[in-house]
Amino acid sequence: MNINITLRQLKVFREVARQQSFTRASKALFLTQPAVSMQIKQLEGVIGMPLFEKQGKQINLTDAGEEIKVLSETILQQIEETTQNLELLASGQQGKLRLAVATTVASVATRLMARFNERHPALSLHFIVTNREGLIDLLETNQTDIVIMGKPPEDLQLETQEFMPNPLVVIAPPGHTLCNRQKAVSLNSLFQHNFILREPSSGTRRAIERFLAAEGRSLESSMEMNSNDAIKQSVAEGLGLGIVSIHTVTSELEQGSLKLIDVTGFPLRRSWYLVQRKGRRLSPLSERFKAYIIEEVQNFHNSLQV
Ligand code: PGA
Repeated sequence: MNINITLRQLKVFREVARQQSFTRASKALFLTQPAVSMQIKQLEGVIGMPLFEKQGKQINLTDAGEEIKVLSETILQQIEETTQNLELLASGQQGKLRLAVATTVASVATRLMARFNERHPALSLHFIVTNREGLIDLLETNQTDIVIMGKPPEDLQLETQEFMPNPLVVIAPPGHTLCNRQKAVSLNSLFQHNFILREPSSGTRRAIERFLAAEGRSLESSMEMNSNDAIKQSVAEGLGLGIVSIHTVTSELEQGSLKLIDVTGFPLRRSWYLVQRKGRRLSPLSERFKAYIIEEVQNFHNSLQV
């Protein structure tokens, strides 16, 4: 059997079946009763069997009518759900957010996302935290919508927006001989100490190296770790001094488990950028997230200690 049914016929049929009355169905659908009867007649013509039978004043579904009732409820419900989902997607209430951030951004980004999620509980989030080289890789292979990173690479076609300062500071364990000096510590005194640095593919590390090169220096005595957390813990344990993004040490500074050293030329001024590939069309939700980040940033900016 080749069933050629229209959605309009199904809608009218579903209402008549639900209401068990042509009159009530026509009122609910804002149609005339003859229009409702016509749709049902056409549907019965397509099916080749009656869908309703009269018993006194009452109308009941035939066996064929029961079959079409299940079909109409299933199909129309799916269409209604899909329409709702499309509306949510278009309004930016729902959708996927693919976000990749530099390791220095991770804690700020998670706080921002938690608040964004309160406003958009239907958000489906794909979140990657990696270093600069990892982020450039994701941009090159077009695997993410939005990236938050330090200075964007110049050899890729990108749309970028500088949105927040990311100062690099020198950290030490409490009680270190360079803490609480009257005057800023000179670079000469600073570089007599051991340092714990990030890995070479990190943006933080590259910024430090650029600064050192401009000062005509290099760090001889240093250890390397690929995690800001490991560096913080090692510095707190007295393994050496660290140069990190202020955003990675806000709670330690508050709690007093790490101290800042005031050094000539520091903090190193860096910024974070919102980055996406040129021409990549963002979903309404991703656009909302970008706008939200810009709006919220002032609060974080104000809470900075340097
Ligand atoms: P990263 O961070 O050191 O984890 O690569 C990069 C950045 O803040 O630019």
